[in-house]
Amino acid sequence: MFDAVAHRYDRTNDVLSLGQDRLWRRAVLRALAPRPGERILDLAAGTGTSSAPIRAAGAWVVPCDLSFGMLRTGRRQRAWLPFVTGDAVRLPFADATFSAVTISFGLRNVQDPAAALAEMLRVTRPGGRLVVCEFSLPVWAPLRAVYLRYLVKAIPVIARRVASNPQAYVYLGESIPAWPDQQALAAKLAQAGWADVEWRNLTGGIVALHRAVRPAAAGHAAGAG
Ligand SMILES: C[S@@+](CC[C@H](N)C(=O)[O-])C[C@H]1O[C@@H](n2cnc3c(N)ncnc32)[C@H](O)[C@@H]1O
Repeated sequence: MFDAVAHRYDRTNDVLSLGQDRLWRRAVLRALAPRPGERILDLAAGTGTSSAPIRAAGAWVVPCDLSFGMLRTGRRQRAWLPFVTGDAVRLPFADATFSAVTISFGLRNVQDPAAALAEMLRVTRPGGRLVVCEFSLPVWAPLRAVYLRYLVKAIPVIARRVASNPQAYVYLGESIPAWPDQQALAAKLAQAGWADVEWRNLTGGIVALHRAVRPAAAGHAAGAG
């Protein structure tokens, strides 16, 4: 599915989010707080849109993704980034490789999110950080009702005009309401072995930003590593 959206990916995001995606990306960067020289994994990085600001902050960011089409577009648009092909549930990195791991608008698309969270824990060094940026649902009921209508009614119509694969955006509208809410996702992080889990809502909860830390004396979650 993502192979076919790569071509107009950034522009489509800008249009469908009414420009809010730029604010969300700034919030991710603040939460991640990358330091110069740190090694950071940007998982499900797609074309590298989420990786570029991390690199600009001076960290050594590794964009990793499964989609050949997204990686090909990313390598063309951002040749300075070291793109790696990899599956979130079987990452091609050694244990404790990264100071921090982040995933933006990717976890919802992974077939086994629990396995991906365990893999992220494995490749993060003890004391390292996790930032998950993902669509959620507004906490204020009237906004939630308007937003749910936007997802189902408006997104497919707009996507037909701007996206290279409109069908993928129908999936977006269907998958967001089915995704765990903020608290349920926090519980999934904790189940995978992450500590100090917290979250904040962006744009009223349209997006949720979850943060966590790999415990210093981490045992891996069951089945990982
Ligand atoms: C909506 S894009 C997000 C791209 C980028 N992080 C951003 O913020 O713009 C979701 C990405 O998740 C990737 N993805 C889905 N399942 C994956 C998996 N199992 N392993 C790695 N990447 C995956 C897709 O290929 C796609 O590029």
